[in-house]
Amino acid sequence: MEIKIKNISVTEIKSDLLIVNLFEGTTLPGGATGAVDKELSGLISDYVIKKEGFNGQFGKMYVLSVPNHKNITKVLIAGLGKRDDFNLNKLREICSKIIQKVKTMDNVKNVVSMLHGAGCAGFEPEDCARIIVEGTMIGGYSFDKYKSETKEAVKTFTVVEVDKTKFSKAEEGFSKGLLIGDTINYAKDLITEPAEIITPAKLADIASNLDLDEVKIYEKKDIQNMQMGAFMAVSQGSIHSPRFIHMEYIPKKPKKKIVLIGKGITFDAGGLNLKPATSMMTMKNDMSGAAVVLSIMRNIKKLKPTAEIHALIAACENMPSGSSYKQGDVVVAMNGKSIEIDNTDAEGRLTLADALCYAQQLNPDVIIDIATLTGACMVALGSVASGILGNHDELIQKLIRCGKDGGERLWQMPMYPEYFESLKSDIADMKNSGARGGGTTAATLFLKNFVKDGTPWAHIDIAGTAVIDKPILENPKGATAVGVRTLLNYIMSE
Ligand code: BES
Ligand code: MN
Ligand code: ZN
Repeated sequence: MEIKIKNISVTEIKSDLLIVNLFEGTTLPGGATGAVDKELSGLISDYVIKKEGFNGQFGKMYVLSVPNHKNITKVLIAGLGKRDDFNLNKLREICSKIIQKVKTMDNVKNVVSMLHGAGCAGFEPEDCARIIVEGTMIGGYSFDKYKSETKEAVKTFTVVEVDKTKFSKAEEGFSKGLLIGDTINYAKDLITEPAEIITPAKLADIASNLDLDEVKIYEKKDIQNMQMGAFMAVSQGSIHSPRFIHMEYIPKKPKKKIVLIGKGITFDAGGLNLKPATSMMTMKNDMSGAAVVLSIMRNIKKLKPTAEIHALIAACENMPSGSSYKQGDVVVAMNGKSIEIDNTDAEGRLTLADALCYAQQLNPDVIIDIATLTGACMVALGSVASGILGNHDELIQKLIRCGKDGGERLWQMPMYPEYFESLKSDIADMKNSGARGGGTTAATLFLKNFVKDGTPWAHIDIAGTAVIDKPILENPKGATAVGVRTLLNYIMSE
């Protein structure tokens, strides 16, 4: 599907389907919807609203055939809900739902949409265009490269605005929206691909080919030489050798240095503490954090943040085999701290530990890691919000706001030191797992051992949100690429 923007009136462009909107309770629509209503001699106001009782409730849609119009074949009227409740996150959601509905319709190739929100809702045309594109790309996403038959899809989706000034403002937002949508959807592709395709070597290969200032790939020997004993241990049960990936974007005179870390377990079988089949089914997704940071770096030269950005991925598989690490092993991370292995399925924190040590050596101003880290986070927050924790409340609050602006929900969880009690080891500095309760905080307190106190650091747990089994808000089921919008908003604001 190609997404375009044009400076033309909604009624003067050919469309198989024209999308307009209605706020709840409107009897006589204005703006673009009003213009269409006039062209159709009051069909929307007299028939759809009055006779059919369509009242513009949020998410409700009405499809009207207009066989006699010279340009328009069908009109879809989307309910925006109550005007007072409407905001840009709602706009993103409705646009996603519109395209999902359109995809189920037959004979719709060329879709035209009015620039929702820029009229009586009073939002900036730039924001509206950006959000419409985001929502349409999120809802329009599908991963069907392995399907032998695919349904004929929408060819073009054209956003139109007749007003010249509004249009030129909208154009700017439009191209931003394409970039954000592309970042989200590329991450979704990486997450959805099978683990046999997205191996550590493949991730490294993709990273090496990005348009960046430098990409360093460390192979097994290098990882050993850097004394990343925790990361090495996790990787040793797999036939796929590990890679440590360091991607760099260095603008002129950066004021800040930000390190992003994505958990990159390309498959988490649990290791010798093998997962049951149902839990293992989704574990190709255990590199969702890596996919998010890699996808951001893929577009970073186009996004042009003023901060210096480093992205790190400790990529490996967690597999059971004769060479696997074992319960009771003691491993030593890059900073010299020793860890007794209590459970080989608590592998993410081990790989992140060494990534955090590496990050620290870059002397960053900020470290943010994003990881499908704990089942406990999924138990606590379900698929509705991601968890956020760290050592710096200001950073956490800022990330929560960046998330909110992007339509991603982050919920702060506590860092009470008592949650670390069960990670105390008799023979090493700590264990990698302990009590069942409070697992998300325990994991984060574990990670804290590998971050210097003075470095602002936030950890985002996306175990419940990275991949969803039923739609939530703008996200259809499947990979969500959650974190992309939060982190983009963050790096663009620094
Ligand atoms: N990758 C999992 C966490 C996870 C679970 C992500 C469900 C997405 C959905 C992680 O490596 C893991 O296995 N965590 C264990 C830790 C435990 C052994 C301390 C968990 O949460 O059960
Ligand atoms: Mn695990
Ligand atoms: Zn894992």
